[in-house]
Amino acid sequence: MFSESSDYYLLAIETSCDETSVAVVRNGREVLSNLVSSQIDTHRQFGGVVPEIASRKHVESITAIAEEALRNADVGLERIDAVAVTQGPGLVGALLVGVVAAKTLAFALDVPLIGTHHIAGHIYANRLIGEILYPAMALVVSGGHTELVLLESEGSFRIIGRTRDDAIGEAYDKVARALKFPYPGGPHVDRLAQEAEAEIELPRSWLEPDSYDFSFSGLKSAVLAEINRANMKGEELNAAALAKGFQASAVEVVTGKAMRAAAEFGVRQMLLCGGVAANRGLRERLSRLCEEAGLPLLIPPLSLCTDNAAMIAAAADLKWRRGEFTSLDMKADPQMPLEDWSVKKSASVGED
Ligand code: KG4
Ligand code: ZN
Repeated sequence: MFSESSDYYLLAIETSCDETSVAVVRNGREVLSNLVSSQIDTHRQFGGVVPEIASRKHVESITAIAEEALRNADVGLERIDAVAVTQGPGLVGALLVGVVAAKTLAFALDVPLIGTHHIAGHIYANRLIGEILYPAMALVVSGGHTELVLLESEGSFRIIGRTRDDAIGEAYDKVARALKFPYPGGPHVDRLAQEAEAEIELPRSWLEPDSYDFSFSGLKSAVLAEINRANMKGEELNAAALAKGFQASAVEVVTGKAMRAAAEFGVRQMLLCGGVAANRGLRERLSRLCEEAGLPLLIPPLSLCTDNAAMIAAAADLKWRRGEFTSLDMKADPQMPLEDWSVKKSASVGED
């Protein structure tokens, strides 16, 4: 089925949370179209994602988005060689919409289906912008995840650290909400932190000295305590100084752990990914630390950091090139484990 000399086209679908996205990608790396329909405006009025509404919105938009993605790519359905879809993790009702659409297309076109892991997608978004050097360390920071993932070779995933409570983006959103910013609040806290002159010192949650895990609930509580203290004393809150203190603590801990992990595992590259990779404080500090350590760093552009289907195609390409396909009776898996999604054959195949 796979021939190195001819072009191949993957159609990818992502509906794990609140964006409906369809992409057409040539030869695993060339993004011909990557359409994203965000539901943020709908969910904003509720202060966060409402799962039932997310599913309904996916149903309403998936067909039109898929048609438009094919049209923008100027690729007919008959040219599609495989259909990739986010199988998990995510909201079950939201995942289900993409999974049903992908199965229907794969069946109707008689092409392979590739159930894809959402976090593998965030990590492999980096392959759309550059070469990944192995072993690599990925720092995954999003609204639902905070993980340090070691990639010993292409398509092999080993989680060496994860959050024990809130994801970093979730902590940003909760702090933003306490400061009365609309959802999603991460960018507002980031902006405020950049503008601030003063900084309210907040604790660092390093956990046990040898741990690569994260915890953000203590930091979030420290922010809320500062707000309450100001309220009780009738003082005006210095929101910018508080945002700066929160950002300094969160960024110092995630970058500190990522750099320690990179040194311990002797990696050749650092990969930053996920929606919070848009954070200016995080990008700047990680860039500086990697430069000082002589460690190459990849960070996707913003459009490939937040949820999108092109990143799903980039990860699915690992399986396409190895002929590892998914049965049409697969189920959406809201708790899908990343390590189990690693490729079966470790040798790098079909690279151009
Ligand atoms: O990866 P993503 O689009 O969705 C998930 O898979 O979770 O990440 C969304 C998260 C939200 O929590 C949002 O507040 C956060 O990324 N975010 C930021 C920034 N831009 C987006 N957090 C901090 N600073 C930013 N500049
Ligand atoms: Zn995501």
